[in-house]
Amino acid sequence: MSTFYDEVGGHDTFTKITARFYEEVADDEILRPLYPEEDLGPAERRMRMFLEQYWGGPHTYSDERGHPRLRMRHMPYRIGLLERDAWLRCMRIAIGSIGDDVLDADHRRKLLEYMEMAADSMINSPG
Ligand code: HEM
Repeated sequence: MSTFYDEVGGHDTFTKITARFYEEVADDEILRPLYPEEDLGPAERRMRMFLEQYWGGPHTYSDERGHPRLRMRHMPYRIGLLERDAWLRCMRIAIGSIGDDVLDADHRRKLLEYMEMAADSMINSPG
């Protein structure tokens, strides 16, 4: 049975989405200061592994990092509406960079709906 991961082009697609996402983060004045490391490469890799696992690809994320516990892992960073919106802006650009030939309307909608839900759930500071 094919997974969502396979249906949207597997590793290649998730690599492109996360690479584009972190290009946007690097230039974002709200998000960039939140990232503790100067090199965004390791964060990009963790995000790619997480998304690949979530959508039915390899389980490398949990093999290396254990249970995702994403809300808990984000507690050190102040995430309010501003940060959520900035994050979603970068993610919409990243997903938008994948062509319709690879990501059809139905898969695109599912991916975007998940990102919106997940970003909302990461808010840990009001205002
Ligand atoms: C890690 C910010 C939402 C997935 C991080 C880090 C920051 C951050 C600063 C630490 C970078 C690092 O890994 O070294 C934010 C902000 C968000 C947000 C401002 C706004 C809503 C999300 C969402 C997801 C996500 C919605 C998943 C769909 C991850 C993952 C990691 C991470 C997988 C690495 C966790 C680990 O294994 O340590 N995020 N994030 N983030 N974020 Fe987010």
